Amino acid sequence: MSAADEITTPFDLAQVRSSFPILKVAGSGGEPLVYFDNAATAQVPQAVLNAIEGAYVTHYSNVHRGAHLLSERATEHYEQVRERVRSWIHAESIEEIIFTSGTTAGINLVAKSWGKANVREGDSILISEAEHHSNLVPWQQLAAETGAKLEFLPLLETGEYDLEALPQVLTEKTKIVALASVSNVLGTINPIETIIEKAHAVGAVVCVDAAQSVPHFPTNVQRLKADFLAFSGHKMCAGSGIGVLYGRRKLLEAMPPFLGGGSMINLVERETFTTAALPAKFEAGTPPIVQAYALGAAITFLEEIGMKAIHQHEMNLVHYAWERLKDWDNLKILGPAPPHRAGLISFNLYQKNGRVIHANDVSHLLDQQGVAIRSGHHCTQPLHRRYGISTSARASFYLYNTIDEIDRFLGALEKAQRMLA
Ligand SMILES: Cc1ncc(COP(=O)(O)O)c(C=O)c1O
Repeated sequence: MSAADEITTPFDLAQVRSSFPILKVAGSGGEPLVYFDNAATAQVPQAVLNAIEGAYVTHYSNVHRGAHLLSERATEHYEQVRERVRSWIHAESIEEIIFTSGTTAGINLVAKSWGKANVREGDSILISEAEHHSNLVPWQQLAAETGAKLEFLPLLETGEYDLEALPQVLTEKTKIVALASVSNVLGTINPIETIIEKAHAVGAVVCVDAAQSVPHFPTNVQRLKADFLAFSGHKMCAGSGIGVLYGRRKLLEAMPPFLGGGSMINLVERETFTTAALPAKFEAGTPPIVQAYALGAAITFLEEIGMKAIHQHEMNLVHYAWERLKDWDNLKILGPAPPHRAGLISFNLYQKNGRVIHANDVSHLLDQQGVAIRSGHHCTQPLHRRYGISTSARASFYLYNTIDEIDRFLGALEKAQRMLA
C-alpha cells in the first residue's frame, strides 16, 4: 500500500471533482490540467453555474428598486443570500453583512470610512510585513492622510508572527490592527483569536483579512470577536465580482458612508442627503446581484460537503506535499510546517551555486507539463523582500485536488529542476 493509499478523504472526492466541468480541461501534455492556483482564485462548480444561469432565466432584475414581479424576486433572492452568509459566518444580524466586490473593497471600506473617522495624528495602525498589498496599501494611505504611524508586527524566520514582540507594537496608541488570518504566501495559520483579545485589551479595533481562511475553514465571527472581517467569493467557488465585509453593527452604524450614490440614501435634497440604514448604507449603486446569487450557491455547495471535511482534506494534501518537499535538494519553502500552515506551499528552487531560479521559469516548465501553479510576488512585495527574494512559486490546494495531482506536480517539478539546474 502506498502512502497515498493510506490517506482517506472525508468526502466523495470523485463526486466533488465531477461537479467542476473545468477540471476536464486538458493541460499542455493532453492529461487533465492540475490546477494548483487556488489561492489566487478557485474554480466554479456546476451548481454555481446553474444558479447564475437560473437567475438570468427566472429572476433577474435590479434589486431594491422596482415594484414589479421580477424586481421583487430578484430582491428576495439577494436578501436570502445575505442571510445565508450571516448564518455561514455566524454573524449576529444581516445588517452586519455588506456585499462588496471582494476582500480589497472590504478592507478599503474600513480604512476609508472607519479609519478616517477614528484615526488621528499620533495614533498607530498595526499591520505586518506579511500582508497582501490589499491589507497594506489602504493602511499606508490612511497613515499618509491622517499622520498616524504604521507599526509592524515582526515576523519570525519561520513565517509566524513574533507574538513576544506584540507588547512593543500594540499599545494604547493603536487604533486598529489589520492582519490576515492565513498568509497567502507563507500559508501560516495566524493566532488571530489571541491577537484580537490582546488588541481589545488596549482598546484597538481589529480588521481581519480572511481571504485565505473563510474558503477553507469554518468561520465564526462572534467566537473570534472580530470587529471587521473581509473575504472574496472568487476564492470559494463563487466566481469573481463578489465579496463580503462583516462589521460589528455598532461600528458600522457609527461609520460615515464610503461611496455615495443610489441605494445608500434615505432622503436627498438639493444640497444634502441622509443615509439609508444598514446594510444599504454601504452598498451604493447597483450591487453585484447575480454574483451574490453565485455566492449563495457556493456556500450551499461547500456546506453540503462540510467546511471541517474540506479543511481536513486540505491538511492531508499539504502534509503529503510538505513531507516530500521539505528535504528536497536546492528547494526552500517559505513559512512554517503543518499543522501551522494551511493548504498552500510557496517555495523557490536554487541552482547548485546558490543562485535562485526565477519562479516564472519554474511555473512555465510546470505549465508545459499540465500543472498550473502561481509565480511572482503574490501581491506581497515587502514580504518577499523580508526573505531576500523578489518572487516565489506557489502551489495552493482546494477541495477538488488529489494526492495523485500532487504526485504529478512533484514529478513535473523534478523535471523542471533538472532542466534549470
Ligand atoms: C490574503 C489576501 N488578502 C487579500 C486578497 C485580495 O483579494 P481580492 O483580490 O479578491 O480583493 C488576497 C487575494 O489573493 C489574499 O490572498
